[in-house]
Amino acid sequence: MPSSKFAIEDRNRYATGLNSYHESEAIAGALPKAQNLPQKHHLGLYPERISGSSFTAKRAVNKQTFMWRVLPSAAQSSWTQVPDHPLNQNFHTDLSFLPDQLSWKPFKIETDCNFIDGLRLIGGAGDATIKNGVAYYSFSCGVDMDEQTAFYSADGDWLIVPQIGALDIQTELGMLRVRPREICVVPRGIRFRVTLPSGQTRGYVIETFSGHFDVPELGIIGSLGLANLRDFEIPCAAFTDTDAVTTLLVKMAGKVSRASLKGSAFNAVAWHGTYYPFKYDLGKFMTMGSTLYDHQDPSIFTVLTCPSDKPDHPAVDFIYIGPRWLVMEDTLHVPYFHRNTMSEFAAVISGGFDTSPMPEELIGMCMLHNGMSTHGMSAPVIEHSMNKEIKPEKIPDDHVAVLVESCYPIGLTEWARKLGEPDVGGDEENDFGGYKRVFDASLALKGRMQ
Ligand SMILES: [Fe+2]
Repeated sequence: MPSSKFAIEDRNRYATGLNSYHESEAIAGALPKAQNLPQKHHLGLYPERISGSSFTAKRAVNKQTFMWRVLPSAAQSSWTQVPDHPLNQNFHTDLSFLPDQLSWKPFKIETDCNFIDGLRLIGGAGDATIKNGVAYYSFSCGVDMDEQTAFYSADGDWLIVPQIGALDIQTELGMLRVRPREICVVPRGIRFRVTLPSGQTRGYVIETFSGHFDVPELGIIGSLGLANLRDFEIPCAAFTDTDAVTTLLVKMAGKVSRASLKGSAFNAVAWHGTYYPFKYDLGKFMTMGSTLYDHQDPSIFTVLTCPSDKPDHPAVDFIYIGPRWLVMEDTLHVPYFHRNTMSEFAAVISGGFDTSPMPEELIGMCMLHNGMSTHGMSAPVIEHSMNKEIKPEKIPDDHVAVLVESCYPIGLTEWARKLGEPDVGGDEENDFGGYKRVFDASLALKGRMQ
């Protein structure tokens, strides 16, 4: 600490600073100076812009990027729908909204799949056509996407969270290498392709149909803390110059379509703007917490947030449950029992979940506690925590988990529902989880008589 150790190096170059205006050129001088649209670019590049916000959005959230390309993206065929693509989804008919508290063992790695074919929708809510809702996927793969392929989601930003292996993500704006303990965001519409520098991978993708992922406001924390802006890394321009035809896939309104593209999808030689993919090392998170008694809401660990269309109801708060010191006195250090209007989807990346270590075979597991469904620690953990000697305690450095809080209840696909297992309490046969009754009203009387 304060950064993660990785099994595989990242030799890509990055700019740093989320929300900054960035510019990058793979060939010196490729960026036009002082104007965007010279009548004819001196290197023979085509100007093209991608907008991530309305033109008139406030400056703080206005997201636009100009690119200069070998060929324009318009050099493409018409689209054809791919009727049997595993990413096709209909949120109105395919999801079951259930109060069950469920967990999933680590998903089997689809070794024959590439990143896109190996995506499985766990669940979601809302409607991409009105830019309102979320989708949660598991991904696993063992092969690279073909060199002449690219994908983009017209439905929303993708927050990618690897748990095993590493991802090389070639984007229109440059290369990102993303490893377990790092996360990345590929915004809506940005084209990308994934290859696997260390073999098989597994992880999660959180897609938001509304707005964009951004760091939370800091309020009285001040100007430093949580995920600091300088620690976000933005790719530098890199391009592929080829005449080979690219197969381009898009997911729009939950349906995948295919088109052919003349040349590479990654042919931008230079770019500037505010709309770009980025990555972040969770090990750089500046964790804050209670230093005297009780513990604060997990929102204090928010790395990124994405608004919904309702004020004060985030579509997603992406929360990092990582190593930290617990120093509170006379305090139940583990989470208390709770029911939240926000649904909670959590996944273990390494080591364990918060204070609880996990056996190796469960690392990578995930769980869903839907809106207003009770959850909390098991009876043995609660009993131990209520009776143990309190002293400063470090949540180990390898305990890395993430928590996705959403204002939406999460509907599950049939695939996820069948694999899910109950995650709380139990039935009457095992005494609903074995929580012991320790309430003794006579203790109140004894207290008054002393
Ligand atoms: Fe919770």
